[in-house]
Amino acid sequence: MSITAPKGMRDMLPDEAAYWRNFQNIAFDIFGKYGYVPIEVPIAERTELFVRGIGEATDVVSKEMFNAISDENLNTLLGGGNISANKRLSLRPEGTAGVVRAVVQHDLVPQGAPPVKLMYAGPMFRAEQPQEGRYRQFHQIGVECLGASAATIDAEGIMMAARFFKELGFDESDFVLLINSMGCDNCRPAYRDKVYEYGMSHLDDLCDNCKQRLKSNPLRMFDCKNDTCRKIMQDAPCITDSLCGECNQHYNSVLSMLNNASISYTCDSSLVRGLDYYGRTVFEVQLASKDGAQNALGGGGRYDKLAAEIRQDDKAQANIPGFGFAIGYERCKEALIKKGFSIQNAQKLRVFVACATTDARNYAFNLVQQLRDANIAADLDHQDRSLKSQFKMAGRLGVSQVIIIGTDELEKNLVKIRDMQLHEETLVDASSVIKYFSQLTC
Ligand code: HAM
Repeated sequence: MSITAPKGMRDMLPDEAAYWRNFQNIAFDIFGKYGYVPIEVPIAERTELFVRGIGEATDVVSKEMFNAISDENLNTLLGGGNISANKRLSLRPEGTAGVVRAVVQHDLVPQGAPPVKLMYAGPMFRAEQPQEGRYRQFHQIGVECLGASAATIDAEGIMMAARFFKELGFDESDFVLLINSMGCDNCRPAYRDKVYEYGMSHLDDLCDNCKQRLKSNPLRMFDCKNDTCRKIMQDAPCITDSLCGECNQHYNSVLSMLNNASISYTCDSSLVRGLDYYGRTVFEVQLASKDGAQNALGGGGRYDKLAAEIRQDDKAQANIPGFGFAIGYERCKEALIKKGFSIQNAQKLRVFVACATTDARNYAFNLVQQLRDANIAADLDHQDRSLKSQFKMAGRLGVSQVIIIGTDELEKNLVKIRDMQLHEETLVDASSVIKYFSQLTC
């Protein structure tokens, strides 16, 4: 049997790979206008980073991590040895923890420095049960702003995400923006206790997972997909009733800036997001047309304690507040295709150089290099095909112009150029070919 891609991991064939690149360009163009600059971090990190950063009780860490074994570790294991926890590696399930680790490691926000705004794009890995909109390798674009706790960062981030969705091709009616505040270390513990009490009063009806969540982190019960648990959690205490004065003020500032910018949103007190690092603002952009699972196109929020959690050294006092979000490429693409969008935009060749005789091959080879040097996408036949099949090939490649070189053309220092749409031929002096194409509009 031939080897296929691993379960839940897909190839992006040329049209789609070009679309993914375009998706990143649209995002980076917009984010760049807000001062975000690119960063690349490793695809694998120490497992400990995700356990500490994202939270041991989250589904992402407890059930969905791809733990990787380096050669060095494998040899240790095969030799009967143990690998210490801080040497274990995992494929990144998301980008935030790695970016914050890099900010801390390279001291990108020294005390008193302005915030650093970083953007990234790339594959993430979660060992989930694959289905439409849910993959084991998927792609995100994301931003992280480290070093500012002001509500303006949250508001401009959410506005930037909304702008991206519109620029990508969504209408405002295609998605809903849900928003909530998760409070801070001052007010969340009391709220957590309330949810614990509430959970205890429904203990017999909770699923086994939620019974476990009740012990480890009761707020994770809001993530449960079980119908009974979901119904129970609909009547759970609201976090917004438990916010301290400062968190309340921060939340109201964000909402008021969104109002001023005419961004529509819905406050949803059950939105806790599936990662433990959030405090204060959390938001999610969901498809309006799809209920429940896999309807989230993107989401994020504030994480003012994550850097300290990752740092865990004597500098932990000098914490770095953060805010960010990530958007899932596959879910956006699938939703846009359902809306009738085409993603067939791989860069097409513009010119094909066809040889009528074998003698013309060297000349043709040099000519395509000149065309490429002049930024004109061009190719030629590399398999000694007949002129007829070279034309067929040019048609299949979708080029708009074919240059034909034969004995006559070589002798007279002329080339024949056929317009494939108009079916017209023009004779052009060999020395003017580049100029001819540079002046054409297509
Ligand atoms: P997240 O909500 O876990 O947040 O993921 C963001 C988006 O990635 C989701 O809304 C969804 O579109 C997409 N996504 C997640 N899992 C899958 C999957 N298995 N298959 C396909 N798409 C998926 C984060 O990852 C946070 N790091 C966002 C963030 C950045 N928060 C602060 N900064």
